[in-house]
Amino acid sequence: MDKTPKGNVNRDGIRLYTPEDYSGMHSAGALAAEILDRIAPLVVPGVSTGELDAAIEGMVEEAGATSATIGYKGYQHASCISINHVVCHGIPGVKRLKDGDILNIDVTVIVDGWFGDTSRMYVAGTLSRKAERLIQVTHDALFKGIEAVKPGNTFGDIGHAIQTYVEANRMSVVRDFCGHGLGRVFHAPPNVLHYGRAGTGPRLEEGMFFTIEPMVNLGRPETKVLADDWTAVTRDKSLSAQFEHSVGVTADGVEIFTLSPTDKFHPTY
Ligand code: MF3
Ligand code: CO
Ligand code: CO
Repeated sequence: MDKTPKGNVNRDGIRLYTPEDYSGMHSAGALAAEILDRIAPLVVPGVSTGELDAAIEGMVEEAGATSATIGYKGYQHASCISINHVVCHGIPGVKRLKDGDILNIDVTVIVDGWFGDTSRMYVAGTLSRKAERLIQVTHDALFKGIEAVKPGNTFGDIGHAIQTYVEANRMSVVRDFCGHGLGRVFHAPPNVLHYGRAGTGPRLEEGMFFTIEPMVNLGRPETKVLADDWTAVTRDKSLSAQFEHSVGVTADGVEIFTLSPTDKFHPTY
């Protein structure tokens, strides 16, 4: 067999969705992005991460959608909120934001069975110059990765584009967490690495849906997971940032499912 039917799994074990499936991903992605837009005005010094998460959970319910993270491997919240040196999977709770804190808020929703997964950076109050630079480089690194998405390129091309850009800016790419296939499931093959060599890895094909979600550190790339079994932090306590989009490979490039409806993806736009 030299031809893989549409709506099936390819040789590399990656599902190829059909042209009709893109609209389902658009609905889910749009809701996740809209929630990240609407949470922005609430991100101020003094608010607790638990309060932000409760607002997010309310927005998911109001939309008649489902949170993908509540109940996922025992996780109990509608978002992950990762402040300063927290790399990812920060658990919302009683902690209150301080002036100058930077944070990633990551939301995944299910709409009609389709998963929309996106995260972006926010600042509480005043943004420091070094945090601003980290956020800008991380944001631009995600888009370097997205620009590498087209049929015929490989997953290694995505990772290579991100790593090259980040390291040229003397920052580091986290190796311990990666992007993932998604669609009618939350986490599917392949692992989407944010580093790597051009031309390596599975080839990109029309119909692949996955996330790109680079985590970038001002210091060294090593992370550790805290005793709560979720919170990942930089080992050297350096500041970390992350942006995430859910995308689909099209016949000639890429479609981003989680674009901000009001163009608020970058905190300073
Ligand atoms: N949304 C995260 C991702 O980008 C996964 C969070 S899983 C959770 O893949 F359980 F921590 F919420
Ligand atoms: Co993800
Ligand atoms: Co996510």
